[in-house]
Amino acid sequence: MQSFIRHRRLRASENIRRMVREHHIRAEDLIYPIFVVEGQGIKAEVPSMPGVYHFSLDRLNEEVEEVVELGIRSVILFGVPAEKDECGSQADHEHGIVQKAIRQVKEKFPSLYVIADTCLCQYTSHGHCGVVENGEVLNDPSLERLVATAVSQARAGADMIAPSNMMDGFVHAIRRGLDEAGYAHVPILSYAVKYASAFYGPFRDAAHSTPQFGDRRTYQMDPANAREAMREAASDVAEGADMLMVKPGLAYLDVIHRVKERFDLPVVAYNVSGEYSMVKAAAQNGWIDEEKVVMEILVGFKRAGADLILTYHAKDVARWLKGGD
Ligand code: PBG
Ligand code: ZN
Repeated sequence: MQSFIRHRRLRASENIRRMVREHHIRAEDLIYPIFVVEGQGIKAEVPSMPGVYHFSLDRLNEEVEEVVELGIRSVILFGVPAEKDECGSQADHEHGIVQKAIRQVKEKFPSLYVIADTCLCQYTSHGHCGVVENGEVLNDPSLERLVATAVSQARAGADMIAPSNMMDGFVHAIRRGLDEAGYAHVPILSYAVKYASAFYGPFRDAAHSTPQFGDRRTYQMDPANAREAMREAASDVAEGADMLMVKPGLAYLDVIHRVKERFDLPVVAYNVSGEYSMVKAAAQNGWIDEEKVVMEILVGFKRAGADLILTYHAKDVARWLKGGD
């Protein structure tokens, strides 16, 4: 017997397809990551991330201007310092690279929403996200360094603090530190659920933040665990996080979905470096249609439940949305 149910009625034309579309990507959903370095006249492409650059401060404004003109409302800044040491003293330095970048960007582009990534790994000689003693990453001593870093970023003018270090209690410590320093109005975007992932490889090339010994599995999560992600997110909510991030994105759409269902905070998907590089490499080989693949990936994040997407594709996407090339 022929069925009278016909799903294809609502797929028959571009008009009706658009009318019933459930999810959309808008430029204002995107957060664009930018790497800043010391030095002069530097716009250097990261070899494993085509289209992503290191900028020295004198070249930074041209990039930010482009971002603003494309309708992107937010950037997240990653500092790559000239010097590293055991405790990452450049991380909370008043004239550290990221503090200078924040000040400069907020001065020139006051309406752009500037997020600061708060971690130590780019700044420590051992490349870990916390304080190391006898080959171990210590939790509570790391918190003091992270609070100092967050406060220095807020003082420089950051609109939002995004701690990515995965120490226990970091949201509580940073919230308290910000409040005490007079930054109770600055929200925290917690990297609440961050897995120990091989997809970070290109970022570590870009940020020079590869651990010099061991790995991050004593603080980042096991990719096999989803229920544990609920515990991570729950503690961050209790500690005062304003938004929750899941990272990486693509292999963790189920986790994005569960975080969105369980908690009432905005959810951010981090479409990480390795996810970006795979798409770029395949596109450069002519193996995939870059625009279609990227849009399909991003709408997948939205469908899973992400409110915002942190992605290196943001500028390209904003351009495509505008109908440019
Ligand atoms: C470290 C940090 C990492 C990323 C952002 N901040 C990864 C790591 O643990 O080394 C990854 C971002 C990406 O891959 O795009 N705090
Ligand atoms: Zn780190």
